[in-house]
Amino acid sequence: MKKRILVTGGTGYIGSHTVVELIENDYEVVIIDNLYNSDAETAKRIGKITGTTPHLEVFDLCDGKKLNKFLDKTENISAIIHFAAFKAVGESVNKPLDYYRNNLISLMNLLDAMIVHQIPSIVFSSSCTVYGQPEKLPVTEHTPIQPAISPYGNTKQIGEEIISDTISANHGLKAISLRYFNPIGAHPSGLIGELPRGVPENLVPFITQTAIGIRNELQVFGNDYNTPDGSCIRDYLHVVDLAKAHVAAVDRLTGDKNKKRYEVFNLGTGKGVSVFEAIESFERVSGVKLKYRITNRRPGDIEKIWADPSLANREMGWKTVYSLDEAMRSAWKWEKSIRKII
Ligand code: WQD
Repeated sequence: MKKRILVTGGTGYIGSHTVVELIENDYEVVIIDNLYNSDAETAKRIGKITGTTPHLEVFDLCDGKKLNKFLDKTENISAIIHFAAFKAVGESVNKPLDYYRNNLISLMNLLDAMIVHQIPSIVFSSSCTVYGQPEKLPVTEHTPIQPAISPYGNTKQIGEEIISDTISANHGLKAISLRYFNPIGAHPSGLIGELPRGVPENLVPFITQTAIGIRNELQVFGNDYNTPDGSCIRDYLHVVDLAKAHVAAVDRLTGDKNKKRYEVFNLGTGKGVSVFEAIESFERVSGVKLKYRITNRRPGDIEKIWADPSLANREMGWKTVYSLDEAMRSAWKWEKSIRKII
């Protein structure tokens, strides 16, 4: 009997890649998504990749009634992976209440429902943004959490605290928070990938949209940082590697291999890459000379961050395998294929 996993936000960027890996690891997947930032078509594309189209239930997790009605008829869920959230840093500064309401009410509804429907485990999509600008690098899970610099980042910090407190109060529950560094790239099939609404906030979709001619040029937000080439440094990991980490987390929880009822893991390559190095990687794999202009720093950007992924390596047997070039190559393949579909 296959273990059933509920994936919220499962038609989104990281969610869809995770659903592919779950199905390919013999899990049965049920998706809840309100399609606010994704497309129902993605479930069919997951079916094309894996041979199994996951069940997609479309509603908003902020509607607790709908959630419980759905769970009344969907039994034996072994674990939840919770991706569904608003995630644009800049937008969150302008619309804080939308972010706190959406990201926190949906999480609390899920946790309530876990208790009522006896769903034992949850994997929470968190972010390295909780560390702010760390004093020491690389970042471990014990690196101090810094006051959030955006409502988005704050919803991740508060979300982790809500989960930790709920787990302490409910001994039948257990959870893992996964702190992502910078996910990039797309599934090698070119059938699923990042579909940013409007003008992309993130670097790699902006690079590929510039290369394909949708954007006139890339703005490099500052080259006067205290880094070797002056541009910001991040830990970019392939989204398929990131997806596999979620399977490892679900394996750990449903296989009772967790050592504590609440655990946190950093998910990164362990290597810092600058904006200019990312551009060079893209140009190398695409053969496209990228048009860019150096502009002022972007408010809220930290200078440099990269992970120490050794805890996830040791405890979950997970580490990244794809290179930066492979991630960029997959991002470019996806950009070219999606422009044929749209
Ligand atoms: C990366 C680097 C920019 C765009 C955010 C969130 C994080 C996660 C990933 C959700 C920075 C530079 C970018 C551009 C540029 N989001 N850049 N020109 O800000 O590290 O992380 O997205 O889960 O939580 O904080 O990612 O891709 O926006 O920026 O120069 O047009 O690229 O300055 O140094 P970031 P990013």
